[in-house]
Amino acid sequence: SQPVPSLQKASQPSARREDEYADVDWDQLGFGLTPTDYMYIMRCSKDEDFKGGRLNRYANIEISPSACVLNYGQGLYEGTKANRTEDGRILLFRPDQNATRMKLGAERMLMSSPSIQQFVDAVKQTVFANKRWIPPPGKGSLYVRPLLLGTGAILGLAPAPEYTFIVYASPVRNYFKEGTAPLNLYIEEEFVRASPGGAGGVKTITNYAPVLKAIARAKERGFSDVLYLDAVDRKYLEEVSSCNIFIVKGNHISTPATNGTILEGVTRKSILEIARGQGYQVEERAIPVDDLVDADEVFCTGTAVGVAPVGSITRRDRRIEFKTEGSLVSKELYSTLVGLQTGRIEDKKGWMVEI
Ligand code: COI
Repeated sequence: SQPVPSLQKASQPSARREDEYADVDWDQLGFGLTPTDYMYIMRCSKDEDFKGGRLNRYANIEISPSACVLNYGQGLYEGTKANRTEDGRILLFRPDQNATRMKLGAERMLMSSPSIQQFVDAVKQTVFANKRWIPPPGKGSLYVRPLLLGTGAILGLAPAPEYTFIVYASPVRNYFKEGTAPLNLYIEEEFVRASPGGAGGVKTITNYAPVLKAIARAKERGFSDVLYLDAVDRKYLEEVSSCNIFIVKGNHISTPATNGTILEGVTRKSILEIARGQGYQVEERAIPVDDLVDADEVFCTGTAVGVAPVGSITRRDRRIEFKTEGSLVSKELYSTLVGLQTGRIEDKKGWMVEI
């Protein structure tokens, strides 16, 4: 079998070499899965720490039919991206934030979790081993998907006796088929995404399949995605199936406050900080759906989505439109974010991790 590329053994700075690229039509990338060469796997039993992680060839995994994750959904996932810079470096964006979020999620789901350092190291190794799949500058990113799964076999409802941490990767570009065109969102009336006391605030896999039906119905009607309202009053904005939401009014930028039902997006948090630094009045608050009427701009944020302008939001038969032309706050913020992520803007925040 082929030797596994080692981050430790590579000459420094390893990523600067002229890399060979994988055979990919970089101009055709969307957000579909392109399998890459390697994945990282690490296991532990319930009462032990994770250890012995290593890279394997990317392949199917064997799992017991009675694995807790398959029967009871004891699983978490993360998403982060690696980008190439114009001068040939490879940068990760705040992987420690994903590591911390996975740890908090693991506490909520009563799972063992890797340490922050183990998580970040696994992401680095996975990216380095798959570096020929990182798109050329300006053509997309390598999306990295860490998974934490309760893989131990169980029958009664209880935490798994064994856990598996996996990191795999796929080159991607735009999440939505609209590309960078403004999104048209539909406000869901029947389903909610999360409710108080539930697990909406953590990135458990169980938050995602229940929204598929709402997304499918909205897509059939020509919308890009679904915007959910709060479960109690059905009055406040929560989030979109795949991303957080922001509204802009003059110099004010608001996003729904996290209260246990809203995912604490790494991009959400970063955009809040960038916006504050650029002089905007930034607020995390409960946003009544009626505030949309007065909004100048609306945009979504997420690792997969980036920062996506929203052109319209429809509730029942009422469609509200937002500014999508000319100078946009969302464009300005995204340009700073992408500048940092691709090394075009100097990172004074200590967010970027070079491998
Ligand atoms: C991400 O943005 O990384 C996510 O996990 C959202 C997912 C629906 C692709």
